[in-house]
Amino acid sequence: MRLKDKKAVVTGAGQGIGKAIALGLAREGCDVVVNDILEDLVEECVREIQEETGRKALPAVGDVSQRDTAVKIRDLMQREFGRIDIMLNNAGIMISGLVVDYREEDWDKIFAVNAKSVFLMCKILGKVMVEQKYGKIVNVSSIGAKDGDKNQAAYAATKAAVQNFSRSLSKEMILHNVHVNSICPGIVQTELGKVNLDTEEKRQFFINKVPRGRLSVPEDMVGLTVFLCSDESDYVVGQAINVDGGILYF
Ligand SMILES: NC(=O)c1ccc[n+]([C@@H]2O[C@H](COP(=O)([O-])OP(=O)(O)OC[C@H]3O[C@@H](n4cnc5c(N)ncnc54)[C@H](O)[C@@H]3O)[C@@H](O)[C@H]2O)c1
Repeated sequence: MRLKDKKAVVTGAGQGIGKAIALGLAREGCDVVVNDILEDLVEECVREIQEETGRKALPAVGDVSQRDTAVKIRDLMQREFGRIDIMLNNAGIMISGLVVDYREEDWDKIFAVNAKSVFLMCKILGKVMVEQKYGKIVNVSSIGAKDGDKNQAAYAATKAAVQNFSRSLSKEMILHNVHVNSICPGIVQTELGKVNLDTEEKRQFFINKVPRGRLSVPEDMVGLTVFLCSDESDYVVGQAINVDGGILYF
């Protein structure tokens, strides 16, 4: 119960990493707003949190690349909880492709969902954190931000944007006791991650890259995230921490 009675929001929490984190925060005592663009997944996650942890879970269906969604989440949290302690900007998409073939509309879309959403949430909910002089923001980047790959130039660029945005924002917000950090998952077995893992050959290729000797599951992201949302991480500011089984060392 390291986060007892804290009020949190997790975007893209309908499945994968976001869902694991939403459940992980609730197990540590948080009440959680569950956002996703897919309504049925939001309802399922809300139900699981309530049944498994007994904590409050509120649905907030919406597209986080749209300003209105951030406003809706801010208003919901202020009305129902009276504060916003923790924000997990996790929603993301992957659109793969070689740069020479990449469509401009896909570039705009991936930047809107992966990067602009983080700006909007940090601007609109972050303002509340600044005013209350307390907040923990964790933005989900990727090891792709530090070491790109072919077919992933646009995705890697969005994740580098998230990482450096978080670093700069941390210097603005720490003056108001609001912590901003990012986490950089490696190869995670999720809906988004399956493009890397849809054949046995690809799975083996990626397993061979991981010193830990296995691919990761969403639950592998929970421990670090809970730490970054707790007061134990009071001196951790503006970091981009890999959770990748040892693939990268920077
Ligand atoms: N899976 C990996 O290998 C991996 C590695 C590094 C980083 N990441 C990052 O982790 C985060 C979570 O990814 P995941 O692997 O759990 O993916 P996932 O596809 O399992 O889950 C992502 C969720 O985000 C939701 N979402 C998508 N667009 C949205 C929008 N506009 N508004 C609200 N919700 C939206 C989806 O509906 C989905 O439920 C992403 O930011 C991703 O880039 C994943």
